[in-house]
Amino acid sequence: MRLLALSGSTRHTSTNTALLRALQAIAPERIRISVYDRVGSLPIFSPHLEGSLTPLAAQEFLRSVRDCQGVIIASPEYVRSIPGGLKNAIDWLISTSFVIDKPIALVHASHRGDDMLQALRTVLATVSTQFNTDLFLRLPLLNETPERIAHIVGVPANRLSAENFLETFATFCRECAACEPA
Ligand SMILES: Cc1cc2nc3c(=O)[nH]c(=O)nc-3n(C[C@H](O)[C@H](O)[C@H](O)COP(=O)(O)O)c2cc1C
Repeated sequence: MRLLALSGSTRHTSTNTALLRALQAIAPERIRISVYDRVGSLPIFSPHLEGSLTPLAAQEFLRSVRDCQGVIIASPEYVRSIPGGLKNAIDWLISTSFVIDKPIALVHASHRGDDMLQALRTVLATVSTQFNTDLFLRLPLLNETPERIAHIVGVPANRLSAENFLETFATFCRECAACEPA
């Protein structure tokens, strides 16, 4: 099973990216997670750039979504909403059909950011029929370093929650794939 872990942060020491990398590190071998932390490299979406005019960076991003069985998203809150870079990445996704039935779940690296989470849930429920609102992993990692985050996620209670999240999401992705018309 291939999952894409999409970070809404462009910071090198992002807590959200570090949480996604920690999930990647503890995932069982049958769940392969690729972390995408380059929303900052995507040009601003424009309907004029759809199809054959799609820039290479966006093409690569769209392919990585097409080729995975599910997407995990982690993002900071900026000005009580979704950071522009992540919203732009999602706008690119709706220029294709790749996201329509894509299983999606959220994780979050802060005890804050509920306005962003609410806005992101509205957007994801709009772009995908398989956004799983019941599944959510949240750890209070604000201001922690990536090294500390790897350690914190490895603490037995957190690791159990993270493993449960991954297993439940993988099962959900398999069920979604089984329901797709042949
Ligand atoms: C431009 C900007 C706007 C922000 N706005 C908010 C906000 O509205 N509410 C909030 O709780 N935190 C806000 N923050 C703080 C970030 O959401 C917080 O530090 C987040 O955990 C950083 O995630 P990251 O480590 O993955 O980059 C803002 C940070 C920046 C840089």
